[in-house]
Amino acid sequence: MTLRRFLLPLAILCAGTSLSAQTPNPLAPSGHWTAYQGGSATLPPMGWNSWNAFFTEIDEEKLLGSAQRIIDTGLAKKGYRYINIDDGWWLKRRASDDRLMIRADKFPSSLTVKGDPSFRPLTDKLHSMGFKAGIYSDLGRNSCSQAYSTGPAQLPEGTVAEREVGLYGHSDQDIRLFFADWGFDAIKVDGCGIRAFTPDFERVRDGQYRPLTPLIDQASITRSNIPAVKALFADINQSLARHNPDGDYMLSLCIWGSANVRSWGKDVGNISRTSDDISPNWNRMLTNYDSAVRRALYAHPGSWNDPDMLFIGAGDFDARHLTEARSHFALWAMMNAPLLIGADLRKTPQPLIDIFGNASLIAINQDPAGNQAVLAFDSNELQILVKTLANGDKAVALFNRGMAPVDAVLTSDHLKFRANHAIALSDLWTGAKSDFTRETTLRVEPRQTLIFRASGERALADGLYLSEQPGNVNPAVDGVVEPQPDPTIYRSIPGWRSTRGIGERPMYAGWGGAMADATPYDQPLFIGGKAFASGIGVLANSRLEVRNKGFARFTASVGVDDSALDGSQQVRFFLYGDGKPLASTMSLRRGDAPQSLAADVKGIALIELVARADGAQGNAVPVTWGDAALRR
Ligand code: GLA
Repeated sequence: MTLRRFLLPLAILCAGTSLSAQTPNPLAPSGHWTAYQGGSATLPPMGWNSWNAFFTEIDEEKLLGSAQRIIDTGLAKKGYRYINIDDGWWLKRRASDDRLMIRADKFPSSLTVKGDPSFRPLTDKLHSMGFKAGIYSDLGRNSCSQAYSTGPAQLPEGTVAEREVGLYGHSDQDIRLFFADWGFDAIKVDGCGIRAFTPDFERVRDGQYRPLTPLIDQASITRSNIPAVKALFADINQSLARHNPDGDYMLSLCIWGSANVRSWGKDVGNISRTSDDISPNWNRMLTNYDSAVRRALYAHPGSWNDPDMLFIGAGDFDARHLTEARSHFALWAMMNAPLLIGADLRKTPQPLIDIFGNASLIAINQDPAGNQAVLAFDSNELQILVKTLANGDKAVALFNRGMAPVDAVLTSDHLKFRANHAIALSDLWTGAKSDFTRETTLRVEPRQTLIFRASGERALADGLYLSEQPGNVNPAVDGVVEPQPDPTIYRSIPGWRSTRGIGERPMYAGWGGAMADATPYDQPLFIGGKAFASGIGVLANSRLEVRNKGFARFTASVGVDDSALDGSQQVRFFLYGDGKPLASTMSLRRGDAPQSLAADVKGIALIELVARADGAQGNAVPVTWGDAALRR
């Protein structure tokens, strides 16, 4: 034992507390699902948000105009429920009592009540139309538009203090106002206030705003104060619970994939942005899509990945670009992304309304099993995404990212269906039906996404692989010690900055996180030379929580993955059921044959899969839960 390792426990003992009381062992079974269960988001939220269409220039007429169109076009009946106000609604924080004031010239109904201006008439109106209403705030003292807007456009007014409209230091008061007084049902919490207002920021230097030591540096995980950011959200969680006794609220995290939120957003919010803002530009859409597409295990009923709002209706996704618009919608549907329309629906042409209204695609997004699609084939040109639906069917999307047509071969293996049985395909754009056995070749045009519902005989007849049900798998501890940027995310030119600066370097953490059907570093799964087409790849020193929806047996073949760089590390695998030990392996190292790990799980609600490295810490070893499955 080194001196340091000897002294540390001694110091803790001297302080009079035991080690376990000080730092709960994160690998100890929790016995319950620990991802966020507050609020109401068992399905990905659907609705409309003002930002992409209007930026800060929002008013009541624009908002209600789009809301009315959602009803008139039949979109409301198809599930679009949230009408969310984004940045631009606030006038100031009143000096006498710190109450937030509404920009009443833009929201005249706020003056139709006695006393202080209130959003209650507007939320009442939206509720009477059958909608839910959303509001917007910021973690810091100031908002994104105050940091970045280039005109005077609907920015808060008054003294420096009156223009501090964000939640910082006021979160309970504001959340009470939004939910208990004004009757909102959702809140988007942005983060520019804890990122932009450095002492040397021009608008701080010239006295417009107070400085606030940044907690987030978008370009650097190590310069971000992750515990402090989490603590701000924990406060918000408490206030939301306090001021929403019926639990009917939705919390949208908007810190753009910074501060490693892609690993913990699922623990504190209902939806969590995985990247910076989308713009109506094909390449930017790719960036946002890439930031979520390999993160299926981090999305579950109640806690979804959010690659940002739809930009259908503008630029590369307008009515002259229906192929691109359809791809954008199909990909968001497959990823269980929130379907939040960002268009001025008063002016949106029918072919685009038809995309928003495609009931078959909406059904894929809103499928009750809540499984985000998993990549079954990957390349920089064509990708095949497969999503397991509640009735055992698969949704499959073939996405051509490139500029040349691709004759793509879709196989029964991609779908985890048997090769010698007919597989029925139903085209979700055209309604055309077809079938094939073993494989079929499909022409995918540039930027096109073909999307089908597929049914066939399942390869695993008596159960479901865990990688087919990511909605039931929570990487409570994913073994990542030092978060690293994900190099696989497409790096586009941010429209708002053009090519000023040095461009987009890898910046969204998540590399090394748990993956379905791949190692944490996106390699094929192998244990001791044996390949696994199905399985979960995760780093050692990890704990996965698995919800068991009525299965009787858990089976897997486990081991250190052949991709581990350090062949000397030893790992033991443990299974727990509702917090109690079920089974374990001996220590395994790279090259050892896969070990079978199985247990009866009948009547057990939560299974936990723990991989514990024997040796010291350090960046952990990839391990593979090969063919991990729940069986009848
Ligand atoms: C940030 C968010 C956007 C939008 C704007 C508002 O950029 O990421 O979605 O809310 O702020 O200013």
